Amino acid sequence: HWTDAERHIIADLWGKISPDEIGQQALSRLLIVYPWTQRYFASFGNLSNAAAILGNPKVAAHGKVVVAGLAKGIDNLDNVNSAYAHLSALHSDKLHVDPSNFTLLGDCLTISLAAKFGPSYFTPEVHETWQKFLNVVVSALSKQYH
Ligand code: HEM
Repeated sequence: HWTDAERHIIADLWGKISPDEIGQQALSRLLIVYPWTQRYFASFGNLSNAAAILGNPKVAAHGKVVVAGLAKGIDNLDNVNSAYAHLSALHSDKLHVDPSNFTLLGDCLTISLAAKFGPSYFTPEVHETWQKFLNVVVSALSKQYH
């Protein structure tokens, strides 16, 4: 359940997010800081060091896809589980992504947002609400794992 204040914070933050920019930063950070996550992206070419990851166009493109995928949750705040049922099944049954990685990517997203917006906008209150949103999305994405 979301308060009006939380809905407002999420909508305002989402309105400021560029999926290209934040997606590329967050997915690159995931692949650099948690290098075992590279195993899922064998088809993406050169991920051998940070410079290669940051300059890899497939990482940038997929980062955008992932952040754009958050719109499902933003647009369905009251039905997040059903909004992600298909993506959850895809990541489980087809991609075999360990669900603990959703939390890691969420943390990388949060770091990218904090770095971009700084403490004047990304206040503890905004952070808390964003974290609540991510927790709900991560839980929804983990639902179809058996
Ligand atoms: C594909 C969203 C986390 C690995 C996708 C797609 C979306 C998406 C929208 C495209 C699905 C399609 O083509 O129909 C998300 C969201 C995440 C998340 C919203 C969490 C916030 C992760 C994590 C990993 C991962 C943590 C692995 C560490 C993949 C892979 C693909 C994929 C390997 C297929 C890429 C390709 O070959 O094109 N994801 N994802 N995802 N995701 Fe995720």
